[in-house]
Amino acid sequence: MQVIDCGSQFAQNIYKFLRKNGYPISDGTAPQGYVISGGPNSAQETMLVDSAILRSGKPVLGICYGMQAMALLEGGVVQEHARQYGPIEVKWQLLEQLPPTLARLVHDAQPFQAWANHGDTITRLPDDYKVLATSGDEIAAMISQDGQRWGIQWHPEVSHSQYGDELLRAFADHCDLQPSPVPTAAERIKSLCAALPEHKALIAVSGGVDSTTLALLYQQSGRDFVPVFVETGLMRAGEAEKVEQALKPLLPNLCIINAKERFLSALWGVGHADEKRQIIGREFAELLQETAHTYHCTALAQGTLLSDVIESGQASAASERIKRHHNLEIPRDYALPVVEPFRGLFKWEVRELAQELGLAQELTQRMPFPGPGLAVRILGEVTERRLDMVRQADVIFQQLLVEDGTQCSQAFAALLNSKAVGVAGDAKRHDEIVCLRAVQSSDFMTANVAPLSMSLLQRAASRILNEVQGVARVMFDLSSKPPATIELE
Ligand code: XMP
Repeated sequence: MQVIDCGSQFAQNIYKFLRKNGYPISDGTAPQGYVISGGPNSAQETMLVDSAILRSGKPVLGICYGMQAMALLEGGVVQEHARQYGPIEVKWQLLEQLPPTLARLVHDAQPFQAWANHGDTITRLPDDYKVLATSGDEIAAMISQDGQRWGIQWHPEVSHSQYGDELLRAFADHCDLQPSPVPTAAERIKSLCAALPEHKALIAVSGGVDSTTLALLYQQSGRDFVPVFVETGLMRAGEAEKVEQALKPLLPNLCIINAKERFLSALWGVGHADEKRQIIGREFAELLQETAHTYHCTALAQGTLLSDVIESGQASAASERIKRHHNLEIPRDYALPVVEPFRGLFKWEVRELAQELGLAQELTQRMPFPGPGLAVRILGEVTERRLDMVRQADVIFQQLLVEDGTQCSQAFAALLNSKAVGVAGDAKRHDEIVCLRAVQSSDFMTANVAPLSMSLLQRAASRILNEVQGVARVMFDLSSKPPATIELE
């Protein structure tokens, strides 16, 4: 199968599906079929699909942008339409003479939930096509008369779309892809260890699963390495102590570097999200280089994941940069070689390796915390005072979530970039706005709002307003991803 990546944030999920199922991925030589991904462009303005693919006679599955590009190339009409982001309801059209692998899936007209992310829609099908599914009055899927070319307006490759895997499997089977055995975590560790360069490596660990697993991989391989934890001053309450406690037993030579002042003074007066990320990335890169020098390390190893690469817009020329990931801000002319063994892996794959390497469940399943820390949870300027406020609010929110037993993939408190009016005693004040966010997600590429009870939210708001000085309002973020992201900036 060849994936034509038109720049979708979810294109790598298509690879994930193929890899998880052992289906062969073609680099362009003799593919048995094509999947054209979604993308940030409008097919009306930017055509990234070669029409030769549609004339190849091989099966083609166009997803979102891919479907619209197919429709345009085949003579249909695509127009800007009411945007659909997040969950939509879809209904199959019960067509006769579908390819057998698809007919197994399309057998009832009950609506199901799918995840959409588009602004254009097909308003007239190409002559040779039939409507395969609808969403309200929109064409949600189409299929060519010969059953070889399928177009899907929603994203079957994201975990929030019902029957997504079944649909992709129906297409893979239609292409007659033969699955081969998927390597076990142990086999993967063996080949990753063998591929590690001989350099003594400096590994910046954060307490998160990716960097800890990387350090354990080095340990397993017998290569020399020095793990360092940088206290940036942008951590949650008690985080540095917790990380030290959890990691010291695993990595006895762990070094802790206190760089609070360095990061906070570099961020002084900076309010723009991208600029903050850039500064943090630069400071990290420089600090690690200096530390490597101190410990005679000749390489820097990082737990960069495939999803970091995708979201930084480095996965393909067409993808748009959503945000910088601080660990991808290493300058090209960096003096140290950078080793990134997990660059081709997703989080779930690294978690499998972690488990195989014996990492405790509480570390492998830890709630993710972004590398740039609280700087991306404080909209606008990062100051000691604002850091303290967001930490206190976060502690209260986490406590209540634990007491309540609500399962969230990620939950946190953040500070917005404007102030609101409040009354304390009899005095009117202009104070900060705390925003609470809680989501459920399996791959962090899409996310749903966690359904917290009103009473939990009210308790959180009341405690934050009473216990955290300088807060005028508490809000709860109801946005799904997409169109929002999980972090606030
Ligand atoms: P978003 O906000 O992009 O987040 O929906 C997806 C997941 O990635 C985490 N995240 C980061 N992790 N460095 C990291 O190591 C970063 O710069 C970064 N930005 C976001 C985020 O917390 C969520 O789990």
